[in-house]
This record gives sequence, structure tokens and C-alpha cells, in this order.
Amino acid sequence: MLFYVLAEIKQKRVIVAIDGPSGAGKSTIAKRLAERLGFTYIDTGAMYRAVALWAVRQSVDFADSHRMEQLALASEIDLAPGRIQLNNEDVTAAIRTAEVTNGASRIAVIPGVRRAMVAKQREIGQKVSVVMEGRDIGTVVFPNADVKVYLDASLEERVHRRLLELRAKGVEVSESVLTGQMKERDERDSTRADAPLAQAPDAVYLDSTLLSDRLGGDLGILHRLALLHFFFVAGVCVGGKF
Ligand code: DC
Repeated sequence: MLFYVLAEIKQKRVIVAIDGPSGAGKSTIAKRLAERLGFTYIDTGAMYRAVALWAVRQSVDFADSHRMEQLALASEIDLAPGRIQLNNEDVTAAIRTAEVTNGASRIAVIPGVRRAMVAKQREIGQKVSVVMEGRDIGTVVFPNADVKVYLDASLEERVHRRLLELRAKGVEVSESVLTGQMKERDERDSTRADAPLAQAPDAVYLDSTLLSDRLGGDLGILHRLALLHFFFVAGVCVGGKF
């Protein structure tokens, strides 16, 4: 059965959309899924971050909608597995600073920036099968995606994961400061007028809160669940032969 589904999927371009707030585990699941399925992994948050980085370097105010849209349209963004290039420069590490993290969320409210990013994302999805993660993939970028997952986790757990990530990089930040920043970003991402973070009505809701190492859980379970869901939906798509 599995081989039948895989063979059928190979003939067709497939879109797997994974949305949710930061720190929910989207990247971990999306990367593993893409690897497993042989699809291209696309981190759309990294694209908004790249444009924010360019703005920082050009001293463009994040609130300047017109200039920000121009930068978004002119940016050449290439996503290789695990790396991101902006205008032919590797910016994989540079887009992870606190300033760029905040800036990405701020410029993501600008409709012109979103239009430019969405166009680039659709272009990729028209060429190859993808596992694409972000905030609006199942709702706006690919409302007809074959598989949609909304991945969530409690604020406390998401803050904890981010703290560990930052500490691993040698960055010390207090839990209360990080909680404040994440709340602010969540609020902005989910209340903006254009394409706010939201669960698509036909997305499967998964909560990864209890699956962290700290709580003795295993994010791999989620990955297997998502994979199972993928094959179920894909099976139905290719003719309901289960
Ligand atoms: O996933 P991330 O934290 O790297 O995303 C950075 C910012 O980009 C996030 O605060 C919201 C924005 N974003 C968005 O608006 N739409 C997407 N599809 C992906 C990210």
C-alpha cells in the first residue's frame, strides 16, 4: 500500500502545509517529514527574516511600508536544505538575531511584503513537492494544500524551548524577557489584518506541549503522527484505496 501511495505521489506535486506559532516544533517536524518524503523543505519564516535583515543593513525603518515592499520584491532568496541565501550571500546565522526576529514579525504585517513573499512561495510550490512551514500556508499561500497541520504548544513550553536553543548558542536571556517578547510576537502575528496566524478549518490540530525532552516526551511521536496523517490523506487523494 505504502509503495502504491508513494508511486502515485511521485506523479503528482504535493503540498504539505504546517502552520503554528514559534517554538511549537514546526521546523523539527517539517524537516523530518520532508526528508522522509523526499520533498523540498521550505521555512517561510526564514524568508521574512531575510528581508528584515536586509532592512537592518540598509537602515530602512521596519514601519516604512513602501521601502519594505521594494526590498521584499527585490530580494533574491534561495533556500537550500538547512541554509538560506539573500542576494547570493549565506545569511543562515545572521537572520537569527533578536533584532531580526523582532523585525521579521514587524514587516510581516505589511501587505506588500506579504504579497511578495507569497508569490515566491507559490512559485516554489508550483515546481516541486514541498513541506512548507509558516503562519499562513494552509490559509493563504496554499488553501488547497493536500495535507494541513496546525502545530501548537503552550507559551511556557515554547519559551522554554527557545531558552534552551539560545543557551546552546551561548546567548543568555532571562525567561521573563523572552516570555514578554514571545507574547508580543504572538499577539502581532495573530492579530494583524493581513493573513494572521490561524488554523485552517481543514487542518489537523496537534499539540506538542507534552512531547518535549524535558517532560519525558518525544517529538518523534508527532512526526510519526504527521506522517501517518500524510499517508492517510495522500491515500484518499490517490483514490481511497486504503
Ligand atoms: O517562523 P519564524 O519565527 O522564523 O518567523 C519569523 C516571523 O515571520 C514571524 O514572527 C511571523 C512571520 N511569518 C509570517 O508572517 N508568515 C509566515 N508564513 C512565516 C513567518
